[in-house]
Amino acid sequence: MKITVVGAGAVGASCAEYIAIKNFASEVVILDIKEGYAEGKAMDLMQCASLNGFDTKITGSTSDYSKTANSDICVITSGIPRKPGMTREELIGINAGIVKSVSASLVEHSPNTILIVVSNPMDTMTYLVHKTTDLPKHKIIGMGGALDSARFKYRLAEALEAPISDVDGMVIGGHSDKGMVPLTSHATRNSIKVSEFLSEERLNQVKEDTKVGGATLTKLLGTSAWYAPGAAVSGLVHAIACDQKKMFPCSTYLEGEYGLNDLCIGVPVILGKNGIEKIVNVPLSDAEKAHMAESAEGVKKTNGLLEL
Ligand SMILES: NC(=O)c1ccc[n+]([C@@H]2O[C@H](COP(=O)([O-])OP(=O)(O)OC[C@H]3O[C@@H](n4cnc5c(N)ncnc54)[C@H](O)[C@@H]3O)[C@@H](O)[C@H]2O)c1
Repeated sequence: MKITVVGAGAVGASCAEYIAIKNFASEVVILDIKEGYAEGKAMDLMQCASLNGFDTKITGSTSDYSKTANSDICVITSGIPRKPGMTREELIGINAGIVKSVSASLVEHSPNTILIVVSNPMDTMTYLVHKTTDLPKHKIIGMGGALDSARFKYRLAEALEAPISDVDGMVIGGHSDKGMVPLTSHATRNSIKVSEFLSEERLNQVKEDTKVGGATLTKLLGTSAWYAPGAAVSGLVHAIACDQKKMFPCSTYLEGEYGLNDLCIGVPVILGKNGIEKIVNVPLSDAEKAHMAESAEGVKKTNGLLEL
């Protein structure tokens, strides 16, 4: 199993590290445009191998896509991150050009790859890859919901004063502060609906804290977060590489599902060796349906900024 991660920055390196630590891949190639940067990150990570007990071989490459040839899974994290006060949508100008050229080079060298898009604005970048490469839609996956759901569970556990392993919940919709739809109607503590334990007001607070989860960290760190994003990407890669058939909310191209068409947005999917093996239709409350429709409008507005 060969995996390529483009972008050796904060998220790319974190994701390569988690993939290696889980020890399921034979090879991880990290590629960056900055001279020597990916090689340096790869060497540093390889020097963790004996300490952390993994056998995955990690190599780096400066812009040489021949090194990525025949990757089973490619991850795109290249592009600029947010600074405090910025929205993800403001990154589109620079990141669209990067994601378009990177995805073309990856597919040229690995025509059968499954491609995971991380760069922001992620739903629009996923749509861009769908529109500009020949990959089938089940092989183009946007990562956002897996991270947003992890942040939702963190906030739920905090409100419930419970360990996170007691809590389950999912965030669908667009990967933006306004677009995220935390599914409070389905969230549980040990299979009991969280609404049994938390007031509507407290649950609304959990929702709001989840939606600004990325912005909260960007303000604290001065740039966007990387540990949980890297862990979330590695979760998707692991599910595909090991054919786990796990359910994650991922951004995928919709053709009528959830009443939506011609956009990529976060919905629950089953991930296995073929990429997205199924889109799962979950019943939504009226408020969640309305929020999902609003979220889709926001994603389509950002898609409208693309020069396709
Ligand atoms: N989808 C999500 O949930 C999520 C979460 C966190 C961050 N992000 C996004 O991921 C992206 C990366 O964030 P980061 O914090 O790692 O940024 P970073 O600046 O630390 O790393 C980005 C890397 O991309 C490289 N790069 C730029 N252009 C390139 C090109 N054409 N080819 C190869 N490499 C190139 C840069 O040299 C840099 O090393 C940002 O767009 C950020 O908004 C998404």
